[in-house]
Amino acid sequence: MAADPTILPTAVAKQVIDPHAYAEWDGLLDTFDRLREQSPVAKVVPEQEGLFEPFWLVTRYDDVMRISKDNAGFLNNPKPVVFSFNEAIEFSRAATGSNMLVDSLVVFDAPIHPKYRKLTQDWFMPRNLGRIESEIRDLAHRTVDRMIDLGPEIDFVKEVAGPYPLRVVMQILGVPPEDEPRMQMLTQQLFGGQDADLSGTGMEDMTPEQVVQLVAGAVKTFEDYFADLAEKRRANPTGDVASVIANATVDGEPLPPRDMAGYYIIVATAGHDTTSASTAGAMQALAGDPEQFARVKADRSLLAGIVEEAIRWTSPVQHFMRTAAEDVEIGGQQIKAGDWMMINYVAANHDPAQFDNPRRFDAARSPNRHLAFGAGAHQCLGLHLARMEMRILFEVLLDRIAAVEPAGEARRATSTFVGGLKSLPLRVTPA
Ligand code: HEM
Repeated sequence: MAADPTILPTAVAKQVIDPHAYAEWDGLLDTFDRLREQSPVAKVVPEQEGLFEPFWLVTRYDDVMRISKDNAGFLNNPKPVVFSFNEAIEFSRAATGSNMLVDSLVVFDAPIHPKYRKLTQDWFMPRNLGRIESEIRDLAHRTVDRMIDLGPEIDFVKEVAGPYPLRVVMQILGVPPEDEPRMQMLTQQLFGGQDADLSGTGMEDMTPEQVVQLVAGAVKTFEDYFADLAEKRRANPTGDVASVIANATVDGEPLPPRDMAGYYIIVATAGHDTTSASTAGAMQALAGDPEQFARVKADRSLLAGIVEEAIRWTSPVQHFMRTAAEDVEIGGQQIKAGDWMMINYVAANHDPAQFDNPRRFDAARSPNRHLAFGAGAHQCLGLHLARMEMRILFEVLLDRIAAVEPAGEARRATSTFVGGLKSLPLRVTPA
């Protein structure tokens, strides 16, 4: 029987689902370049039947945009929204009755999704965020003070890009600083579980079942923690997003406990490693290009472009999955209702049809309509916050440092989902 030309060769398929390939980056981008050209919508099937459900990999910008915006045609709920092995999905079903360990905005479709999204949508708009800008600036100053104290050689991820967005998210969720290390560990177990350094638990050596058990434990700890917090915010509401969630009603009823915990968890997890990765990427770009550093130090109007380009260039959320609601043709392929699809943001954000010289960090890129925040009904709820956090941090950094240069090898996390630098050694010269 002739090989099916729409099915990716095993070596390529393995690369697409291999967390280590995402740590290699350049090799992965080369693969995506070839796929966009030759098979922009290609089927990924497991070498060993039953390992994971086959899916369509979508690599072109236009196709990822079309799927993202068609929320009736491509659903988030029927199958997992993040690539998962079958064993993990089965364990999750057994443990929680759901494909996903956590039910949250990203796994809801209409008509439930808009009702839940509406609850916090206004809170995350720039007008409201202005209220917390000075708090965030204080935090940025404290983070940079500490970095300078520890310098001149520091790991920027460990000292700045990691802790700063975590503290912002914890602050809006009302989690006190002393509980942060625990929250960070739980987040990494949920999102960075494929990287042994990040999870700190040696998860790489565990069986998939052991990993999911560890993750299920992390979810339970999150749920208990936030149930307690919600009770406090019901008794004494403040202006934070935790109070909004604790006191919210949908169709006249308070949120069920699992949904409420899911809401906290999605904000706690989605807002942390993502912004860390784009922040680290922005700094890497500046450290690698002293002229650019000098330009933006002298002219802060360039900062918005740097922030936006860093988000595209790093594409911290590397993919999401969708399930086709009906038979449809896309990229010349016949997709069947129920087919699982990977919309790959890394590939889309490096599509030369949309971005000139996409691997280049171009702070002046215009337009820069990247897909790092997704598009359509699920587009990142925290995008204004992420941009604001980054802008404020770099305003402070540019005031406080005279120069910055690489001081060692930058290393990327091994993760197919949220990825980016896990280490960025730098030498900083205070201003
Ligand atoms: C959803 C990326 C920061 C909260 C998403 C999605 C992406 C994304 C790709 C899915 C979009 C889609 O399906 O179309 C990023 C990136 C960030 C970032 C790259 C940083 C650079 C944040 C922050 C928060 C946040 C700071 C909140 C504190 C959320 C939530 C969702 C989401 C709640 C689910 C929205 C929904 O399903 O309706 N994000 N995000 N994100 N993000 Fe972000």
